[in-house]
Amino acid sequence: MRVSVFGLGYVGCVSAACLASMGHEVIGVDVNQVKVDLVNDGKAPVVEERIGELIAEVVRTGALRATRDVREAIEDSDVSLICVGTPSEPNGSLCTTYLERVTEEIGAAVAERGGRQTVVFRSTMLPGTCLNLLVPILEKYVGGTAGVDIGVAVNPEFLREGTSVRDFFDPPKTVIGELDEASGDVVAALYEGLPGEVFRVPIPTAEAIKYADNAFHGLKIGFANELGAVCQALGVDSHQVIDVFLADRKLNISPAYLRPGFAFGGSCLPKDLRSLVHAAQRADVSVPILSHVLPSNSEHLRRAVELVERTGKRRVGLFGLSFKPGTDDLRESPLVELAERLFGKGYELKIYDPNVNLSRLLGANREYIETRLPHLAQLLADSVDEVLDHAEVCLVGTRDPAVLEALPHGGSPVIVDLIHLPDADARRTEPGYMGLAW
Ligand SMILES: NC(=O)c1ccc[n+]([C@@H]2O[C@H](COP(=O)([O-])OP(=O)(O)OC[C@H]3O[C@@H](n4cnc5c(N)ncnc54)[C@H](O)[C@@H]3O)[C@@H](O)[C@H]2O)c1
Repeated sequence: MRVSVFGLGYVGCVSAACLASMGHEVIGVDVNQVKVDLVNDGKAPVVEERIGELIAEVVRTGALRATRDVREAIEDSDVSLICVGTPSEPNGSLCTTYLERVTEEIGAAVAERGGRQTVVFRSTMLPGTCLNLLVPILEKYVGGTAGVDIGVAVNPEFLREGTSVRDFFDPPKTVIGELDEASGDVVAALYEGLPGEVFRVPIPTAEAIKYADNAFHGLKIGFANELGAVCQALGVDSHQVIDVFLADRKLNISPAYLRPGFAFGGSCLPKDLRSLVHAAQRADVSVPILSHVLPSNSEHLRRAVELVERTGKRRVGLFGLSFKPGTDDLRESPLVELAERLFGKGYELKIYDPNVNLSRLLGANREYIETRLPHLAQLLADSVDEVLDHAEVCLVGTRDPAVLEALPHGGSPVIVDLIHLPDADARRTEPGYMGLAW
């Protein structure tokens, strides 16, 4: 394929050289003459493992050359990869100036040349940037419709500086955010033959995936370092702890606990986080991530209350009360906390949980309910229908099959989904459905 790569920094020059070595005909573009000259001399403009040899080879064979001339690059390519920088502004917001400028230049050159170009954004940008900011620029300059007269895709890159050439040929995944199928096909063809799963998704999803990855990587490092500092202060070998932690592929290094859903609770997580943070504080170890986990959890619970407030309705049904399915354990159940808050705000509440029957509750659970939610007995319903008959808005916090089956469609009652119902994707477009974080 004939490819132009805009921006010859870390991402652009690695992409350009690797694509050229795969047999594509590549022209690199940069505003910086020094970088253009370096590439044309067969030298890498960045320091990276293997990039020097690779650029020397593909420039020698004529598979890669560089220019500052946008028109020349568009003339000689059918697909353009945009790899310009998107640095932070002083207030933390994303600077899109370089993206906007290069998009204008490409749009104008495509208009002059005619024909369909596929423009592929590889730079990291916030969800909405492509469709709301860059596509309108392209359409204005090309004088046509994106997805018809010009192809558009977002193809974030997941290469790590230092090993980016190796990562290019063995990527963790390939993500293609496509405006239309033809645009996605062009990107898929570019990488044909490379290993790893290919995900073809809507453009805003592709944009968001990059942020999910980088936020998680930062969180992981921060978590490991805070845990290390606490262990050190407590005289524990942190590396031994983390070795065992990492060996658990069921609950730790796994998809467990990683899907947006409701707040956590129960008799262990909140208690143990509190005591760990307290131990760190006593040892004068600052653990901002760990100490903000419980506040983050309360924020999530507050979002559920806010959704109910937003409906403006007063008669509320709650499905689920125990802290997770298949247990009657109510201690620190976030659903109990939710019920208590709604009750405290004067909502007329009815609750149904197949596992919670006051007459059967014993010991700690019974005591918990009696101290935390003394009016619970009056609020508990005996059946799903009793709640549905009462409620103008229903919060669903259980996967009990009888509840799921009985949940109506159509907006009466309004459904506030706390757990991402099995049919959440279909319901999302229905009136009267509110997802907690989806
Ligand atoms: N560096 C990484 O490891 C990495 C990894 C994944 C994603 N990203 C993302 O990729 C993008 C590029 O990152 P980078 O590290 O390669 O940036 P960089 O600053 O190294 O390179 C950007 C290049 O774009 C050039 N440029 C700016 N405006 C231009 C224009 N109008 N026409 C042509 N060239 C132009 C600059 O001169 C520069 O050489 C960013 O959005 C970044 O967040 C970077």
